[in-house]
Amino acid sequence: MSDPKNEVSFIMVKPDGVQRGLVGEIIKRFENRGFKLVGCKMMSPSKDLLETHYVDLKSKPFFPGLIKYMSGGPVVAMAWQGKNVVKTGRSMLGATNPLDSNPGTIRGDLCIDVGRNICHGSDSVESGKREVKLWFGDSTEDYSLCTENMIYE
Ligand code: TYD
Repeated sequence: MSDPKNEVSFIMVKPDGVQRGLVGEIIKRFENRGFKLVGCKMMSPSKDLLETHYVDLKSKPFFPGLIKYMSGGPVVAMAWQGKNVVKTGRSMLGATNPLDSNPGTIRGDLCIDVGRNICHGSDSVESGKREVKLWFGDSTEDYSLCTENMIYE
């Protein structure tokens, strides 16, 4: 069984979050909570990558609009690591529809439209692994390499 301390979640700032300048705000909340950023890249995802990422939603009526919106500009793709990061990350994001998100959550504080809900977070430990692998391959970072000697003389 995998070590829960090393759990990973795929968190993405969506095109509207990037365009509105909310990248730092979202990173700050995860850092302040105590999670470790182990992967981060700004990119314009291909339609293929987005369709694979959202494959479970393929039959939904909003799927074409979702892919169009997600293709509308660069995103910031991130891998976050830490104890219970998937479940905690979801509660930090708030409900899918921002109008149902509690104040204090990212969506509850920063947006109002389900079709412009500024961020994505993995919904299970298995999805976290799958999505981090899909977006980062094997190229996330290993913090065990830099826990000591952070200051040089
Ligand atoms: P989903 O995976 O159900 O939610 P979450 O992002 O919270 O895991 O849906 C993926 C995205 O699809 C969601 O963030 C916004 C969009 N979406 C709509 O546009 N309309 C809808 O009715 C739903 C449920 C989702």
